[in-house]
Amino acid sequence: MFMFLTVAGLIASPVRAEITAKQTEVMKQLLAQYQEKAIEEAKNKKSKAAQSQTSFTVVAGREFYLQRRSWQENDFTCSGCHTEDPRKEGKHIETKKPIKPLAPSVNPERFTEVKKVEKNFTEHCYDLHDRDCRAYEKANFLTYLMSVK
Ligand code: HEC
Repeated sequence: MFMFLTVAGLIASPVRAEITAKQTEVMKQLLAQYQEKAIEEAKNKKSKAAQSQTSFTVVAGREFYLQRRSWQENDFTCSGCHTEDPRKEGKHIETKKPIKPLAPSVNPERFTEVKKVEKNFTEHCYDLHDRDCRAYEKANFLTYLMSVK
């Protein structure tokens, strides 16, 4: 019985709630970049929302992740492909291909290269909005993902 509980315990907790030093470094660098850009966007009155968004929160990032966007007869949310829990494996809504979890706490391959993240981010934002996301949106989203343990 004791053995069984031990094994069940191991199986029940495959989540490695830990973000590597490398991921922390890359995400901090990205956040600093976005912060700078967000201030610039606020100054240039890039959009109404951008004017007031120069500090970032987990709540706003979570909202961004779940926000429904209608575009080209499709109805997208980030969570549509990446699931409502970014620690879980996602599934592409069109190709049905599996997508490895986004949360850095369970996937050590995420957020390990500034350039790659930026490229992915921009591509996805274009997929969903036909524009790149504002710096404040990216910063909120990263703040949220860093908080997911
Ligand atoms: C139509 C499906 C789909 C939607 C919608 C989608 N993604 Fe993705 N996302 C993917 C796929 C596919 C990948 C790449 C899979 C991989 O690298 O394993 C990916 C990868 C990413 C990565 C990769 C990070 C890294 O460095 O590895 C980030 C960040 C990301 N998505 C953020 C978002 C955000 C934010 C949204 C909402 C604005 C979003 N995604 C919406 C399918 C989607």
